[in-house]
Amino acid sequence: MNVGTRRIAFINETGGVGKTTLAVNVAAFFALKRNKRVLLLDLDTQGHAGKSLGLDVRSLSPTMFHLLTRDDVSLDAVTRATAVKNLWVVPARKDMADFPVSAANLPEREHRLARRLADQDGRYDVLVFDAPPSMGLVTTNVLLAANEVVIPVGTTYLGLDGCAEMAATVERVSTQFNHPELKVTRVVPTLYRKTALSDEVIATLKEHFDRRVSEPMHFNVAIDEAQGHGQTIWEYAPWSRGATILQSVAESIDRAR
Ligand SMILES: Nc1ncnc2c1ncn2[C@@H]1O[C@H](COP(=O)(O)OP(=O)(O)O)[C@@H](O)[C@H]1O
Ligand SMILES: [Mg+2]
Repeated sequence: MNVGTRRIAFINETGGVGKTTLAVNVAAFFALKRNKRVLLLDLDTQGHAGKSLGLDVRSLSPTMFHLLTRDDVSLDAVTRATAVKNLWVVPARKDMADFPVSAANLPEREHRLARRLADQDGRYDVLVFDAPPSMGLVTTNVLLAANEVVIPVGTTYLGLDGCAEMAATVERVSTQFNHPELKVTRVVPTLYRKTALSDEVIATLKEHFDRRVSEPMHFNVAIDEAQGHGQTIWEYAPWSRGATILQSVAESIDRAR
């Protein structure tokens, strides 16, 4: 794999914390605002990364599941163009749920994704991974294919607990599978509303992660609406407060390396 390719994973086993929203919009940020060639890889059964970009993922085949389980299905065959210049996506669908069983007897099943991306030969400058809301074989595959980990954390008491857990998991995978480049580069406080508790949560995150904590992703309805229209914030509402919020988070992720 091209050493210059950035490989950024959005991970948290808690659902609804903004992984997909960030993965899609940060991928589009690199494509549109940094003029990079970007491949967004969806690993979640819900298929929301593709759906957020306006793809009808239910009718698509082959998809991520086939890339992971069949050597005769190429990366090109599962890669779809999007309406965003410089942005391509490998969509996922419900059948991703069968991956752990289908992969049970495959050699090096934890490295399937990394191996299948090895032949992309620097065609992309940035790979962005949208992980499922669970720890398990799929997320291990994501962590072994990535080297930068971004943890979106809901600014709630339990969100804090989950973040510590995720950071420990990343370290364990890095050690167990001898993947020392894997690092948590950013923690993004998400679904932020200005309350005393949210600010306390951010202060505690900063005690642990220091300057790796990005600007918070404020709750903003345009961010939600954009997904309903199958668009990124940069297309749907480029001058909105939502765009300003996502831009500062994306810039912070860009600066992480
Ligand atoms: N900053 C935000 N403002 C408004 N809605 C948001 C924001 N971040 C996420 N959402 C909404 O919250 C829901 C969950 O976000 P999502 O990115 O799908 O989380 P995850 O991928 O972690 O499950 C989605 O409907 C999304 O549109
Ligand atoms: Mg998601």
